[in-house]
Amino acid sequence: MVDGKAKLIGMIEDRTAKVGIIGLGYVGLPLAIHFGQSGFNVIGFDSDSEKIDKLLKGESYIKHVSIVPVTEMIETGRFDVTSDFERLKAVDCILICVPTPLTEKMEPDLTYLVETTETIARHLRAGQLVVLESTTYPGTTEEMILPRLRAGGMEAGSDFFLAYSPEREDPGNKTFSASNTPKIVGGTTPACLDIAQALYNCITRAVPVSSTRAAELVKILENTFRSVNIALVNELKVLSHKMDIDIFEVIDAAATKPFGYSPFYPGPGLGGHCIPIDPFYLSWKAREYDFSTRFIHLAGEINVSMPHYVIEKTMEALNRDKKSMKGSRILVLGVAYKKDVDDDRESPGYAIMKMLLEKGADVYYNDPWIAHLRPTRKYDFQMNSTLLTPELLAETDAVIIVTDHSAYDFGDIVRHSRLVIDTRNATKGITGAGDKIVMA
Ligand SMILES: NC(=O)c1ccc[n+]([C@@H]2O[C@H](COP(=O)([O-])OP(=O)(O)OC[C@H]3O[C@@H](n4cnc5c(N)ncnc54)[C@H](O)[C@@H]3O)[C@@H](O)[C@H]2O)c1
Repeated sequence: MVDGKAKLIGMIEDRTAKVGIIGLGYVGLPLAIHFGQSGFNVIGFDSDSEKIDKLLKGESYIKHVSIVPVTEMIETGRFDVTSDFERLKAVDCILICVPTPLTEKMEPDLTYLVETTETIARHLRAGQLVVLESTTYPGTTEEMILPRLRAGGMEAGSDFFLAYSPEREDPGNKTFSASNTPKIVGGTTPACLDIAQALYNCITRAVPVSSTRAAELVKILENTFRSVNIALVNELKVLSHKMDIDIFEVIDAAATKPFGYSPFYPGPGLGGHCIPIDPFYLSWKAREYDFSTRFIHLAGEINVSMPHYVIEKTMEALNRDKKSMKGSRILVLGVAYKKDVDDDRESPGYAIMKMLLEKGADVYYNDPWIAHLRPTRKYDFQMNSTLLTPELLAETDAVIIVTDHSAYDFGDIVRHSRLVIDTRNATKGITGAGDKIVMA
């Protein structure tokens, strides 16, 4: 008799296993395309029916994700998208890619994950593999997901299989995608690990670790590493301004060292769904062990102070020009959290805009990829992106470069502006601007 494990691995290897992906956002949609292109039939599930309608109409809602492969896969019957979770029964491998944000009190908000797990539990059948891909604290798969899936009487490792494999998506990265980025995999039991490893080996190189908890911590280590190193260069940036040393020149020079150093760059503060959030998942969990994650807190403190620093530098520069912040016309260039993406989650641009408005400035923004500012958990600006013209720049008291999108011609921007506050080194190499450019 063929056991459940051998059967599922066989189906994965001959691509007859059907893959279901829950949450078709920045992580889930590219992953669905990737599995489809690796020969699997895929069903994408999302509770947002607008997203499903868009995909079916041939429209992408993520700038850097082309709709072409999605439409091609839908037309050839290899990809289907739905909000009907009854269809979970029809898939063999279920990958969870739903959001894991923080609450107002900076604690893990597992609402989406709990809801998804309960939906899976209602439809779980013998022989299925469930993998969590969302970023979370060590212990989530074992403590939150496993008991809910076992509640129906089935056992992990024999009846169904459970694993954790963190997503390593870097939106907009043209060098590394899902196909050439190894995937960490941890299983609830050895059988769970073997199956998950077999699945991910079909799309890239799977790297096994001893448990789901270790795999969960790998992801948080990776993001905490970035957060701490960015905080280090942000702090050094403030010092280097006082010392009149160009921090970007220093970082680039240090990066010529072929060992023991990796470059990280300062900016207006942290943004995106991962780096400002994930470390706090760990510090929350650490409290259960009476342990304080001091590096995480210090890095968070420094990174959160960066928008304040940008405001301070802007006020100083306006003051130099005999202007007050109150009443000044200020243009924020870029509200995406990094260049060339249309993702504004946790953007430091919003913290900057809020402070500018509180200080009485007349604030507007431009972002070629974000036409309208939707309300977020913290902010509700209700603004539309302003058309970037020489006339607009000429009548603006200060332009703050928050995001260095490739679409911007910074030479032109500096030429037409009165004052440019550069938080990204976007004006590097522009000469003849006198003291018009202020690094912040
Ligand atoms: N964005 C990134 O670059 C990135 C990188 C690595 C890891 N991650 C992690 O991956 C996870 C997903 O992030 P994302 O950026 O793709 O989020 P996202 O908001 O872009 O996408 C999540 C999707 O899940 C859907 N959803 C929410 N609740 C649902 C439910 N109950 N059932 C079905 N669908 C539901 C939403 O409608 C949305 O389409 C998070 O844990 C995040 O930390 C994100």
